[in-house]
Amino acid sequence: NCAQNPLDIVRSYVCRELHKISGVDEKIIFPALEVPIDNKNGDLIVPIPRLRVPPKEHENLAREWSSSFPSGDASRFIETASAFGKFLRFTFKPSMLRALVIPQILSQDTLYGENNVAKGKKVIVEFSSPNIAKPFHAGHLRSTIIGGYLANLNEKMGADVTRINYLGDWGKQFGLLAVGYARYGDKEKLLNDPINHMFDIYVRINKEKENEAEKDPEGFSATDQEAKEYFKRMEEGDKDAVELWRTLRELSIEKYKKTYKRLNIEYDVYSGESQVTLAEMNEAISTLEKQGATFEDRGALLVPLQTYSKKLGKCLIRKSDGTTLYLTRDLGEAKKRFEKFKFDKMIYVAAAQQDLHFQQFFKILEIMGNTWAKNLEHINFGMVKGMSTRKGTVVFLDTILEETKESMHEVMRKNEDKYAQIEDPETVADLIGLSAVMIQDMQSKRINDYAFDWKRMLSFEGDTGPYLQYAHSRLCSMERNSGLSPDEYANANLDLLTEPIAHQLTRVLSMYPDTLLMSYRNSEPSTVITYLFRLSHTVSSCYDILWVRNQDPEVAKARMALYASARIVLRNGLRLLGITPVERM
Ligand code: ARG
Repeated sequence: NCAQNPLDIVRSYVCRELHKISGVDEKIIFPALEVPIDNKNGDLIVPIPRLRVPPKEHENLAREWSSSFPSGDASRFIETASAFGKFLRFTFKPSMLRALVIPQILSQDTLYGENNVAKGKKVIVEFSSPNIAKPFHAGHLRSTIIGGYLANLNEKMGADVTRINYLGDWGKQFGLLAVGYARYGDKEKLLNDPINHMFDIYVRINKEKENEAEKDPEGFSATDQEAKEYFKRMEEGDKDAVELWRTLRELSIEKYKKTYKRLNIEYDVYSGESQVTLAEMNEAISTLEKQGATFEDRGALLVPLQTYSKKLGKCLIRKSDGTTLYLTRDLGEAKKRFEKFKFDKMIYVAAAQQDLHFQQFFKILEIMGNTWAKNLEHINFGMVKGMSTRKGTVVFLDTILEETKESMHEVMRKNEDKYAQIEDPETVADLIGLSAVMIQDMQSKRINDYAFDWKRMLSFEGDTGPYLQYAHSRLCSMERNSGLSPDEYANANLDLLTEPIAHQLTRVLSMYPDTLLMSYRNSEPSTVITYLFRLSHTVSSCYDILWVRNQDPEVAKARMALYASARIVLRNGLRLLGITPVERM
């Protein structure tokens, strides 16, 4: 029951009329129609060169077709049609746009913006995937936030989405942690604060290993050796070794779940490197061997990929001691997932530092003969620079989120009157703080690195999370103060919205479904965030002109219908990003 994109209704109309006049196939016209972000050059543009007509005639045809295109009183949709060089440009009838957009937003409510381009598609989104023997770092924060958004977005586009967390819970690192736990572990600390306790152990045991290696003339470390042996025991299924690993894993997951909940994320599956069996990896290896795609070097097994592309190099898939690697586990896991889910698309959200890993991994799956390998996608992102707590340098996501919340709380306390009206200021501070972190993270193109900037991120001015929260809460408070209920403004006479700024806002509102579609196509959260800032700025320009209080009741209702539409779109956008919008702050 998907709503129809209001702009599609206009595009279909223009398409039909233009076809009648020009004879150009509608299938060629439709994709050529452009709704520019701002309307300085018209509301809808058709570049004639995209209609596959002789180049010599572009300007002539633009003139000819624009003059015969029905407009003004002769058209329900189009106010003016004109030629501008090789472009046809149209302006919309404000009354038509209002009538299409506002009632649709009010009645579709949470559904406005949905689409069915991905209907019937099974999509897997793998994201966050922290390593439980190491701290949850900035890269995991990004993967968590961006992945959460992409999973939500795919759902909005109609896909059946499965969210997977692929924990880094296997490998020699884990052997090292277990050795460390045997030396310095404390059961009570582990139960109270598993992540921090494990991190302390992680730091201590790594230091020990390094010290030993430094002292030894050959760089040998007994601790490291012990870790290797421990991991080998794990891979062989040794009971005690596996038992300790299971405890650490479960405690970590429990703790992570709290953080994910705070970010509005829930996983369907907690998988992990440990869940890939030796049999599954061996199957992958033997498939490759049968294809003659491997070679041996001093007991290790490798896959040469240079013939496909020089930069892919050769990849190690089994070490000389018989143990497997990150890459081998990914191969086994992918195959297992395909057999289980028969997905149409699988997205891995992981840092750009892993670009080469994913290229090699996808190529090897293809060599193995898996036709579905072409449906895998690595969604990468740049680094966060200087993400540290206000005092120290070690970064735990939780610590960052606590500090953000406290800073926000301080700011809120300064406005005593308002503060007194907020029911649960702690929760509100937390929600605004979260939006600060999340908006900062997703507001520029994901491939860019960015600097973690406390001051800027927490500011209420400029393009920040708190600003969007403020814009939303202001719309909510205006609605509370208007004394109008949704039933009352739903039937408003929209023809009373005659001001150009009202048309401007309606136009921005009409572009929300297109924006989601674009973000879906480029997998860029920033597309939606840029849009939400644009929407909030436009709403803020309306406040001086479009008053609701002390106005003629019919005018007040019409304006409230417009503001309520803006509130709905802003709320939908924030929720899609994983942010909980606040109603008072
Ligand atoms: N655990 C890895 C890391 O922290 C990320 C996993 C990415 N996903 C994958 N299937 N390799 O670096």
